[in-house]
Amino acid sequence: MNKNINLAILASGSGSNAENIAKYFETHPHIQVKEILSNKANAFVHERAKQLDIPSFTFSKNEFQDTSFIKRLEDIDYIILAGFLWLIPKYLVKAFPNRIINIHPALLPNFGGKGMYGENVHKAVIESGIKESGITIHLVNEEYDKGEVLHQAKCEIIGDDTAESLVKKIHVLEFEHFPRVIEEYIQSRN
Ligand code: GAR
Repeated sequence: MNKNINLAILASGSGSNAENIAKYFETHPHIQVKEILSNKANAFVHERAKQLDIPSFTFSKNEFQDTSFIKRLEDIDYIILAGFLWLIPKYLVKAFPNRIINIHPALLPNFGGKGMYGENVHKAVIESGIKESGITIHLVNEEYDKGEVLHQAKCEIIGDDTAESLVKKIHVLEFEHFPRVIEEYIQSRN
């Protein structure tokens, strides 16, 4: 790999995955997190970005839907969705073909789609009574949670698990796998 690869992370909330990814690539020879973008001005991810010394920006729905948004991504090679809740507009999927990676906190194709994010997913999983959950790292296309799967990892659900305890188990899996899968995928293409 002889080219430097710049990542932009899009995150809507706390940003613990964004922070974990940024730290993983902090000393990487070829891949770095260039910026963190959020649709929420008060998302905790901005605080984390400040601590990490990575520029962070907020954008509105209108800005995101307008193709001029691409100007903010001029030096960016890959977009990483780390707890980002909006559907990615078509123009952006086209501009970054197979270069947008999402993490979903369940085993797709189950428990995915519109409205299935964060705690909603874990509640649905617990209510379904299934005995395992996990994470899905996948490429992003024009539909929610439908792109090619790059990696899945599983965890067991035990009798007294709740949506809250499942969040913690899922975060452990996300922290362990997401940065490594991003790195391996990018390296396999460059
Ligand atoms: C993560 O669990 C991620 O998988 C999920 O949001 C959480 C964000 O946590 N993403 C989705 O639900 C996307 N549909 P974080 O802000 O602490 O990284």
